[in-house]
Amino acid sequence: MGTELRRALLERLDPGQLLCTDLKMGEEAHSSRFIKLDLLDTAALQEVFEANRPQRVYLLAAMLSATGEARPKDAWRLNMDGLISVLDLCVR
Ligand SMILES: NC(=O)c1ccc[n+]([C@@H]2O[C@H](COP(=O)([O-])OP(=O)(O)OC[C@H]3O[C@@H](n4cnc5c(N)ncnc54)[C@H](O)[C@@H]3O)[C@@H](O)[C@H]2O)c1
Repeated sequence: MGTELRRALLERLDPGQLLCTDLKMGEEAHSSRFIKLDLLDTAALQEVFEANRPQRVYLLAAMLSATGEARPKDAWRLNMDGLISVLDLCVR
């Protein structure tokens, strides 16, 4: 989903306006700015927000259903705690 969203946003934005983050760099990450970031590393997440002051954030990092059902606590941390961290930083 993130790869598709990046492609769609790059049709509307200059590459310099788009910053993508993930645990690892995907094949297409070179087409926009990229930072390797673990969503659960709240200090690193805060640094990215403070350094870039994003005007819009799309949060797609998630653990999807099958894996999440096998690892419910990990899914909760990533999907819920990760969401709250991002929302808190957006407010701040
Ligand atoms: N796949 C679908 O058909 C579909 C449909 C509707 C909505 N969605 C939603 O879109 C979102 C993304 O789904 P997807 O299909 O792209 O899943 P995906 O598993 O392909 O992508 C999830 C991404 O999260 C990243 N990630 C995992 N842990 C991370 C961490 N700790 N820090 C940073 N990044 C981390 C992974 O590296 C991966 O790039 C989810 O919220 C999902 O519910 C997906």
